Amino acid sequence: MRLPTDLDRLYREPPPRVSGVEVHGVIDSTNRRALELAEEGAPHGFLVVADRQTRGRGRRGRTWSSTPGDGLLVSVVVRPTRSDVAWEWLPLVSAVAVARSLRDLPGVAVKWPNDVLVAGRKISGILVERRASGTPSAVVGIGLNVNQDRFPIELEGSATSIRMVTDKPADRADVAAVLAVELDRAFAEWQEGTGEAERSYRALLDGVGRPVAVRPFQGEAAVHGIMEGVDASGFLLLRTEAGLRTFAAGDITLSSR
Ligand code: BTN
Repeated sequence: MRLPTDLDRLYREPPPRVSGVEVHGVIDSTNRRALELAEEGAPHGFLVVADRQTRGRGRRGRTWSSTPGDGLLVSVVVRPTRSDVAWEWLPLVSAVAVARSLRDLPGVAVKWPNDVLVAGRKISGILVERRASGTPSAVVGIGLNVNQDRFPIELEGSATSIRMVTDKPADRADVAAVLAVELDRAFAEWQEGTGEAERSYRALLDGVGRPVAVRPFQGEAAVHGIMEGVDASGFLLLRTEAGLRTFAAGDITLSSR
């Protein structure tokens, strides 16, 4: 038995363009559950949502922590109808969907590869996971800060939430409904291959033309250069003293060097 939350409305009023919803009070990870459901055949657009996660997964082996009532923790099953989709763009296209869903907030941008920022602070992180075998499907997991009014000391100054930006609490079911529409639109653009989602990504990308430090592997030395944008695969282009370098993965920091 658990206390109802604002998320329960998702059962009564499933968001538009969603093929099914599973709402949890507490779960280890919505990504873990969505991958399980995808393996069992869950259709494209199936959502797993939770009030809290005990083992929320972040990018590059990090964790994503949550407190009840605060964040939107959602994973969506993606099952493209085409076999030739550009999988490497899925994490970036997902960030476009989150950014578009927050368009009413001032200063929305994307930090490569797929953090969503508001006024320079992270409001959302995305983790895309795919099983190597089986049918071509993936899970896009999104952590979106909604009702936090403060963050732990280590995130103070670098994280924000919808409530902190607008000074008002938000209903997570409403936030999820807007996000679901934008995810559906961005996934459709991605599959159609018209370049629209990629153009939107480039328009939202923060730091182009500025000095950045790239850490391709955790714990390793950073590579400094001027960020030139992303290439046709969504990989980061960095102009260094030794020439143009491309990074398929990494963390970037806007630096003053
Ligand atoms: C990042 O490191 O920035 C990505 C964080 C992704 C967190 C979300 S919360 C919902 C989904 N379930 C998980 O276990 N992780 C993702």
